[in-house]
Formats: sequence, structure tokens, C-alpha cells
Amino acid sequence: MVIWMTSRNKLTAADIRSMKGKPEKIASLTAYDFPMAKLLDQAGIPLILVGDSLGMVVLGYPDTTHVTMAEMEHHVRAVARAQPTALLVADLPYRSYETVEDAVKNAQRLAAAGAEAVKAEGGREILPQVEAIIAHGIPFMAHLGMLPQHVLEEGGYKIKGKVEAEHQRLIDDAKALAQAGTFAVVLELVSSPVAAEITSIIPIPTIGIGSGKQCDGQILVTPDLLGMLPWFSLKHVKPRLNAAEQMRKVVADWKSAVSTPPKV
Ligand code: KIV
Repeated sequence: MVIWMTSRNKLTAADIRSMKGKPEKIASLTAYDFPMAKLLDQAGIPLILVGDSLGMVVLGYPDTTHVTMAEMEHHVRAVARAQPTALLVADLPYRSYETVEDAVKNAQRLAAAGAEAVKAEGGREILPQVEAIIAHGIPFMAHLGMLPQHVLEEGGYKIKGKVEAEHQRLIDDAKALAQAGTFAVVLELVSSPVAAEITSIIPIPTIGIGSGKQCDGQILVTPDLLGMLPWFSLKHVKPRLNAAEQMRKVVADWKSAVSTPPKV
């Protein structure tokens, strides 16, 4: 039996941080609008990310590098109107955190739109930006491994950590980000043994996507989980619903009912 959550206390970044090593894994999902945020919250999801996957799954861009701050703010506002008890995290989009000043200014813009924490992609190369955001009172979630904002330079979505230099870099980056005060780190497409090793070493939760089962939590792009985008096929997600097919069918049935002339 599914019990829809009716009340729970508001969750903070510190609450998510305190789930490190607990038996309950951190089941996180993305939302880009009011109804999806409401539904995820009612289902008890503790962390909702307004990801810049927005670009591909909602706005029709080929990758996340086209997403602007104005687009992120628009969707963060919509999600924030759902007043989720889940922690609401928002992505800093491509090139919005190249300098410390930009990182702080844009994190503040997302916070003003309703984000309770921000996420950006990268390791020690963005440490000054991470430290400045945290120093301005905005909780920060890190993102290591495959970095979608760098997909063009990297030539695709590939597993990270298989070669020794990458493995060591991931560990050193994760340690440095934890030391800087980030409350969690997303590990995207990190080889499972390396994700498990990072999880065992650092004191903050790891939230995996395509990085094996040993992370402290998992995150998915919600339309992938619901089978809304059959034109993307991903190895790490098995859709739990074929929403695209069901929607097409309902719409076609409705069209046929409406467009068929009534019998006289
Ligand atoms: O943009 C996004 O949705 C993300 C998740 C895949 C972690 O960064």
C-alpha cells in the first residue's frame, strides 16, 4: 500500500548531510514545474533538484550548455511555489560560475527565486567559487564524474574513474569539496568501485546517478524514471512507467472521440 505523505518537517541541507551512512538511502529526483514538485513531495522525496537537465527534457535543447540563468530562475520559481518540504536544490547553469563574483551573484539569484541550496559541476578547479557561495550562507551540493556541462569537450557521456589518474583525481576532488563544507556530492557515471570507495572515504553523502548501488543516495531525472522521453535511451535508468506511450494513447483516444461526428 502506498501512503502519501501528508505532513513532515521541512528538510534542510543539514538534514540531508546527516543522512550520511544511515540505512535510509537519499532518493532524490528532479522537478522543473509546480505539479511535478507537488507530486514528488507528496511521495516523500527528500531532495528535489531543479537540474539544468531542464534544457534537454523540457526546453528541447541538445544539451545543458544552452540553459540560461533566466530559464533556471523561471523554473525554480515554479517549483518553489509548490512549497515542498523536500530540500529544493537548483543547478547553476553553464558559465554562470566562472568567477567567484559570478558564482556568488548567480547563487544569490537562484536563492532569491526559491532555491535552498545550489549545485555546480567540478572539483578543485571551482573550489574558490564553492567556498565563496558557502561563505555567503548558501548551502552547496557538488557534482563530480561525468559533467554534462562539459559534454562537448568530452565528446559524450562516458564512465569516469576507470583509469588511475581519473580515479585519484575524483578522490582528491571529493575530499576537497567535503572539506570546503559542501553538504553532499552527486557522482554521475562514476565507475561503481570508485563511487563505493569515495562513499566510504568522505564524511558527506554521495548521491549517485549511473554510479552503482553503494552511494548514500541516488538521483534520477524524473522524466527518465517515468518513461516520458522514449527518444533518449539510457543504460542507467529502467523507466518504471511508459508515460509517453500512455499519453499518446489517451490523446489519440480523446481526439478520436472528439473528432468523430455524433451519430444522428
Ligand atoms: O541536471 C540534472 O538533472 C542533474 C542530475 C542528473 C544530477 O544534474
